[in-house]
Amino acid sequence: MTNTKKTPISADPATWSPETQLVHGGVLRSQFGETSEALFLTQGFVYNSAEQAEARFKNEDPGFQYSRFGNPTVAMFEERIRLLEGAEVARATATGMAAVTAGLLSFLKAGDHIVAARAMFGSCRYIVETLCPRFGIAMTLIDGRDIENWKAAVKPNTKAFFFETPANPTLDLVDIGAVTALAKTHGITTVVDNVFATPMLQRPLAHGADVVVYSATKHIDGQGRCLGGAVLCTEKFLTDHLQDFIRQTGPSLSPFNAWVMLKGLETLPIRVKAQSASAAFIADGLATLKGISRVIYCGRADHPQAALAKKQMTGGGQMIAFEIEGGKDAAFRLQNALKIIKISNNLGDSKSIITHPPTTTHYRIGPEARAELGITDGMLRLSVGLENEQDLLADLDAAVKAARG
Ligand SMILES: Cc1ncc(COP(=O)(O)O)c(C=O)c1O
Repeated sequence: MTNTKKTPISADPATWSPETQLVHGGVLRSQFGETSEALFLTQGFVYNSAEQAEARFKNEDPGFQYSRFGNPTVAMFEERIRLLEGAEVARATATGMAAVTAGLLSFLKAGDHIVAARAMFGSCRYIVETLCPRFGIAMTLIDGRDIENWKAAVKPNTKAFFFETPANPTLDLVDIGAVTALAKTHGITTVVDNVFATPMLQRPLAHGADVVVYSATKHIDGQGRCLGGAVLCTEKFLTDHLQDFIRQTGPSLSPFNAWVMLKGLETLPIRVKAQSASAAFIADGLATLKGISRVIYCGRADHPQAALAKKQMTGGGQMIAFEIEGGKDAAFRLQNALKIIKISNNLGDSKSIITHPPTTTHYRIGPEARAELGITDGMLRLSVGLENEQDLLADLDAAVKAARG
């Protein structure tokens, strides 16, 4: 990604290219002038006087009070990701699910209605399908690929649209521009889970989204270490809803995890670029293997929504879904025969990871919901890491052969 406003370079980080923002953005240096961001592993902060403590709580004195409300290391992470997305504000959370929960439940209330694309991560679906109704929030799950379904689902009390695009694990897409335009005509807040695309390949805010949520656990850490999340939104959304929700319910990101995420952001562009290039190579390679009946990859011309992928994403990403003939047994044999690629339910790691959604991430939703989403028993999800792409394809090739017997 290049900055069009090149020379002279400005001191304003908002004008820098993403790669530069992700290295220098948001740095708060202590009195020691450290090069690398400091880890402020503290729960609280000391005031110079009782008067200063009072002023801090009245918001009359700038500074930190308590790490559940804010912390310098966490603030650096928030500012860095805020800059990258061009959001008005960002708030960090302990996990991606805390970000999804805060993004939705901070503003929804009993009597409201939420419409969500049903192709999504199992825990996200739990929030919409099980948790929301328990608190009097009605919900409608739709096939989010068709704008007509969004239109048909709107009710007078619809307050939120929620979707993942690309969705986990089917890589179904939702037209962010079309859905957010519809939302705006009805005063509906659109919340987008942008985990699969990463902020490097898709900017939902630029396409009209009101709130964007991340599992920073995935590509932002990028090396499988810490859990974390982030919510990006407007100042108004923060003041009206999110600030108090996060402060009072406490899904705060630990300073240590924030520090890991900050360093993860520095290398995010080169990792996503390399992993996406490998994923494109592997998707094409998989499609030629005997026994592989289907390959779904956002960067391939045969993705059912290839034109939309081109319109709203700047790359195919590092996630691939594919199907092996022979159902669950063949999928298990394939996984068990792999030498490099690891069996795990995580994604976005530097280590390549394979997942069998029907028996793991999407087990809880049951066979009917899986059939509706097109998650077959032979479907596998691959998160492409930083290993050599030829090694990865050779690993898959051998495992597919072994699975076919
Ligand atoms: C699309 C999506 N959203 C949210 C989450 C939740 O993230 P976390 O595990 O950090 O809570 C995940 C995790 O896999 C995910 O894939």
